[in-house]
Amino acid sequence: MRTLPFRLGRFTLFDHVASGGMADIYLARVKTELGGARLLVIKEILPHLSQDPRSSELLIDEAKLSAQLTHANIARVEELGRQEDTLYIAMEYVEGLDLRELLKQCSVRKLPLPMEYRLYVVRELLRALDYAHHYQLEDAVGVIHRDVSPSNVLLSFSGEVKLCDFGIASVLRVGGSASETIEGKAGYMSPEQARGERLDGRADIFAAGILLWELLAGRRMYKAAEGTSLIELARKGEVPALRKLDLPDAGVLERIVARALAAAPTDRYATAAEMFDDLYGYCLGTRQMASALRFGEWLSSHFAEEKLARRRARERALMALEHGPVLVMEPIPSVAGSIATPPTAASEEGPLDALVGDAPAEPARTPKPSPSAATLASNGPLRASREARESGATTTKTLPSPAPEDPSDEVPLGTDQSTARTSSPSTHRSRDLIVDATRARSAEGASAGGHLKTVVAVVLALAIAVLLAKFLG
Ligand SMILES: Nc1ncnc2c1ncn2[C@@H]1O[C@H](COP(=O)(O)OP(=O)(O)O)[C@@H](O)[C@H]1O
Ligand SMILES: [Mg+2]
Repeated sequence: MRTLPFRLGRFTLFDHVASGGMADIYLARVKTELGGARLLVIKEILPHLSQDPRSSELLIDEAKLSAQLTHANIARVEELGRQEDTLYIAMEYVEGLDLRELLKQCSVRKLPLPMEYRLYVVRELLRALDYAHHYQLEDAVGVIHRDVSPSNVLLSFSGEVKLCDFGIASVLRVGGSASETIEGKAGYMSPEQARGERLDGRADIFAAGILLWELLAGRRMYKAAEGTSLIELARKGEVPALRKLDLPDAGVLERIVARALAAAPTDRYATAAEMFDDLYGYCLGTRQMASALRFGEWLSSHFAEEKLARRRARERALMALEHGPVLVMEPIPSVAGSIATPPTAASEEGPLDALVGDAPAEPARTPKPSPSAATLASNGPLRASREARESGATTTKTLPSPAPEDPSDEVPLGTDQSTARTSSPSTHRSRDLIVDATRARSAEGASAGGHLKTVVAVVLALAIAVLLAKFLG
């Protein structure tokens, strides 16, 4: 796993989302052309697999294939990128959790997942499958996912359901069926897939049937006993009986499950749309319809706070870093004319007296001498820090940051570039400089308000420093 934040192409990776068998998944920020920023998910091939042609081929195929699929129920892939040895795909960020995680959380917290939401998730998944199975490519008539399983079903806090991970998907050629290699998760495989036979969309329908079965039963469908393996169970395709469902018209639902899980593909639903229609009809007839809005609210109310707190904090820390090395903390000598102490030494000794931003260029208040200690004292910390930087002297501590793309875009933290800084005659240099720094934020601010703003600025900067320390730690 990368040490974060990490720059990959245009993207700044700042949070780790998941690690799979082939790739690491990160949350990343990217700057948009109009100056904003948005979040994306980066799926990066694991470092030890970056030289493996088969893994690279899978990721490239996944990117090429899913970049073409445009559907509300499929996670959108935006681009395939390479940086040195690293291959990655960038895709839309579905803020929420995957179905596997949801089921685990519900089980750990003993939180029942309302039945209408269970049925809703399967209906939405079927919409994705029907679209993929009928997707027309140049020389093919459909895409088979082959890895329909809870971890590949993403649920957003707005109630969307999106199928992801077309990593082992295959295309269905005209007049034929796809793929013979056994790939995918044994626990969600159709018998024909587990036997390595040729497949069509009905393999995915079987997997959707397992998901429905498990959502209704509240447990895994295939459980390998001692001496057997999941793949053996999947090959046989022996579906355990559902326990009696305490639902209206339960028989209708049981028949839907049985047809989706028929061992022979010819006895199964021929299309995902047919299964969707039956399920939709059942939900409508038994008043178990759920809306995306309500589902999203339910998910958010139970999981969003915990799930997003850390992520948001990391994003805020990254944004602070992106603003560049502009935050300079320096002590201010308390009495004018006192012998200047080199800022680094002074900052180690006492508490922080002021936060001074790296302000835009301003007309020089005095002729610009070399940054001797005496000059630093007479011009105060603000000028001292700028001059020291200009001369290359390292008298200030700056925050580490990735190289900004366009330094001219940067807005220093804690300063307002639109307001002019005014100098003030000083007897008490420290107070004057605090006012000076405050004026940079608000030229017309009242002097009483100036102190208040300075206190706020100090607290803000300390908070940012603590955040950054956490983030980098
Ligand atoms: N676009 C996305 N938005 C949010 N989370 C995602 C996204 N894509 C993947 N994830 C999370 O990362 C996990 C692994 O991603 P996936 O593409 O399935 O990789 P793998 O091939 O390793 O299974 C998913 O189960 C999900 O939890
Ligand atoms: Mg996956």
